Formats: sequence, C-alpha cells, structure tokens
Amino acid sequence: MVRDRFEARLRTIEEMAGPNVIPDRARGQGAVPPEVGADARLDPSIVPSARVGLAVSEPRGVLLTGATGFLGAYLVHALAERTEARIYCLVRAADREAARDRVAAALRRYRLWSAPTLARVTPLAGDLAVPGFGSTARDYAALAREVDVVVHNGARVNHAEPYARLRAANVSGTAEVLRFACGATPKPVHFVSTTSVASATTRPVSTVSEADRPTLAELTGNGYLLGKWVGEELVAQAAARGLPAVIHRPDRVCGSPRTGAAGPDDAFWTMVRAAVHVGGVPPGGDAEVRLVPADYVAAALVHTLVHGTPTLVHHLINPTSMRLDTVWERLRHRGFDLPTVPAEELVARLQRAATTDHVLAAALILAEGAAPGAARITAERTAAALAGSGLACPPMTPALLDRHLDYFTDTGFLPRPG
Ligand SMILES: NC(=O)c1ccc[n+]([C@@H]2O[C@H](COP(=O)([O-])OP(=O)(O)OC[C@H]3O[C@@H](n4cnc5c(N)ncnc54)[C@H](OP(=O)(O)O)[C@@H]3O)[C@@H](O)[C@H]2O)c1
Repeated sequence: MVRDRFEARLRTIEEMAGPNVIPDRARGQGAVPPEVGADARLDPSIVPSARVGLAVSEPRGVLLTGATGFLGAYLVHALAERTEARIYCLVRAADREAARDRVAAALRRYRLWSAPTLARVTPLAGDLAVPGFGSTARDYAALAREVDVVVHNGARVNHAEPYARLRAANVSGTAEVLRFACGATPKPVHFVSTTSVASATTRPVSTVSEADRPTLAELTGNGYLLGKWVGEELVAQAAARGLPAVIHRPDRVCGSPRTGAAGPDDAFWTMVRAAVHVGGVPPGGDAEVRLVPADYVAAALVHTLVHGTPTLVHHLINPTSMRLDTVWERLRHRGFDLPTVPAEELVARLQRAATTDHVLAAALILAEGAAPGAARITAERTAAALAGSGLACPPMTPALLDRHLDYFTDTGFLPRPG
C-alpha cells in the first residue's frame, strides 16, 4: 500500500520532470550490468605475501583514501587524535602542495582544522582510478615501507551515476588498494562500505545484520550500491586469502553533535533544503530519520584499527531515530513557515522554483521512500568489539539536528528564515 503510493509519486515526478530525474536509490531497483560478476572476482595474483595480525596497536603510518571528503576529514581528525601515526592521504591533485591544501580545506570545511592535525598529514597526489594510484614506482615502494595499515574510505559517492562511470574509482580503486596492502609487507585494510549494501537485494529484507550480504543472483540496486557490493566481495576474498580486513558499514552519516558540520550532498539534507525553499513539507511525518555522527564513525573505525575485532563486518548505526515531524518542528521553531502540503503540490512548486535542480524534486519524495522497505539494522558484533572503549553513538536529539541547521545556515546551504 505504502509502496504503491510511493511508486505513484515517482510516476508523477517523472511525468512532470522527465525520465532521468529520479536517482535509482529512490526506486531501489536496477538491472545488474553483466560485468559486475567478473568484477567481483579478485585477481588471483592479489595474495598477502605473509601473515600479519589485524590489530595495529601503535601504527607508524596509515594510508587514508578520501581525506578531502566529508567522512575522510573526520577520519584524519580521529587518526590524529587517537594514534601517533603519520597520516598518508592519497588525494587527487597536481602535486603534494595542492594535495595538502585540499586536505586543509576539508578540515576547515568540517571545522576540524588545527595546525597539529594538519602537521600529521603527509599528502600524496594520486588517483584511485589509476593503476598503482598513478604514483611512480619509487613513491609506491616508499609508501609501502612507511605504511602499516590502510583505511580505504575514498569513493565516488553518487547515487545517480551508472555503475560504468563509478567502476574505475570504486571497483578498480578497491582492487588497487588490496594489491597495495598485499605487497611486500602486508597491511590490514579497513574498508568503508555502507549498510545499504546488505539490503541491496531482491529478497524482502526486514532486518539487516552484519552477517548479511546479497549473493550476485539476488543483487539489485543503483550503480553506487553495486560498486560497494563488489568492493565488499573483493575485500572478503582478500580476507579469505589471509589479509586482515574489516568492512565498516556506516548508516547515513551526519556531522558531529558539537558542530553539525556535515556533507550537504545527501538526500536527507537536500530534502530539508527543498522543503524550506518551497515553503511546505510533505505529508507522512511519521517516517523515522536515523543519522550516525561522523565523529563516532571515525572513532569507532580507529578503535578497531588499533584493537582489532574477531568479525569481518561492522555496522556503524544510530540505535535511536527521530520522526520527520520533529525535523519540520525544529525548522518551524527557527521561524520557517512550513505547512503540510500534498506531495503533488510540493513537486509543482519545486518545478517552478528550481527547474534546473531536479534533484530537489526527487529528494522530496524520499521522505516517503524512507518508509517502504526500510530495514531494521542490527550491530551486535560492533557493540561487542567496542565494549569497554567508552565509545557510544550519540542519540538523535533535537539538539543534534539544531547544530546541523546552524551549520548549514552558516555555510549558506540553508537560507535564513524570513
Ligand atoms: N556520507 C554518508 O552518509 C555515507 C554513508 C555510508 C557510507 N559512506 C561511505 O563513506 C565514504 C566517504 O563518503 P563521503 O560521504 O565522505 O563522500 P565524499 O565527501 O564525496 O568523499 C569522497 C572522497 O573520495 C575521494 N575520491 C573519489 N574518487 C577518487 C579517486 N578516483 N581517487 C582518489 N580519491 C577519490 C574524493 O576525492 P575528491 O575530493 O578528489 O573528489 C573524496 O575525498 C565512501 O566510501 C562512502 O561510500 C558514506
């Protein structure tokens, strides 16, 4: 019933805005390209050259990918705070200086910058989509000597792009990271995936546990999820060949409860922005929103890196949630006039207000998309691994939301009321 209503909304949007405006994630379905099966077989030459343990209690050097992104900036900060390691950041840039500037800019953007944190960073210009990260043989060998653990967080994060376009960075990039980690001195790999991989299946899923991963035969999802599924397969095969590895699956990530500094490229915040811009919210405020703060995700990953874990997959989730109604209430409390408006009317307003920004239109219906098929995610294994660490996910509270609204207002992503 809810799913029918949701599909009807999708059709309405498509009729109004054209066939390509809805990200596949909203549909949740997609044909699996034939190359996915072959991509998911790890090159037989990628085998660790020796046995090493997973826990690296005093890492000297950590290779981090994706440090210029949202979660990556929080990982730089957590690694600097929780270890003494030099943080080697692989960054797309013309040279080391430009790479350092990009990491510094990300730390500033997410309010994590400090001179001591940046001083821990060794920038490396490189690209995941290029064999050997595009480094010279000499730099690659030096990196292999200096690094004793890898955090592979970098990815092209785009739910609207096809698998073929994401494949080089997300699939070949992960294979390159595993090849590097299996080299002369093997290094444990911490791979950042997403909880959505576990429910990217044609099977109805009501609960997603850390043991769940769809088989190729039942796999479905957008290009981004397919790429993440392949990445998990490659990491799991490397682990089966003896490489110590952990797959960290965060749920939808938000900023720190202290600053609310988050990436805006997320359907949830796009939906909030859309509602504010058109002056109305969709019905169905009983949908639940679940966001996991990035500082908790980063700290939990670093804890596992240092202390190890007996399990391959960790779920990083918020056990608490918030009703969408509460989100709208907090916006009204700030002075936004946000009546509940029928979804078709909201879409029409969006069409008038933002004809070139169709993502806004698609984002609106995600409010309803959250309800059908939303699976309960469990994290027992992660809880066991973090027991005694003092780490706990901060709850979803109005204050957490307010910090984000403050941050997005400061950055100009959200307008000021009135
Ligand atoms: N945000 C979430 O809610 C969420 C939830 C679950 C899982 N995740 C996972 O968390 C990780 C980080 O996501 P995010 O939200 O922080 O995304 P993001 O802000 O878009 O950051 C992605 C990072 O990956 C880098 N990257 C992309 N292509 C690259 C390439 N070819 N070579 C080198 N680096 C490349 C980007 O570098 P450039 O700056 O050069 O583009 C950027 O630093 C991803 O693996 C994502 O799947 C995120």
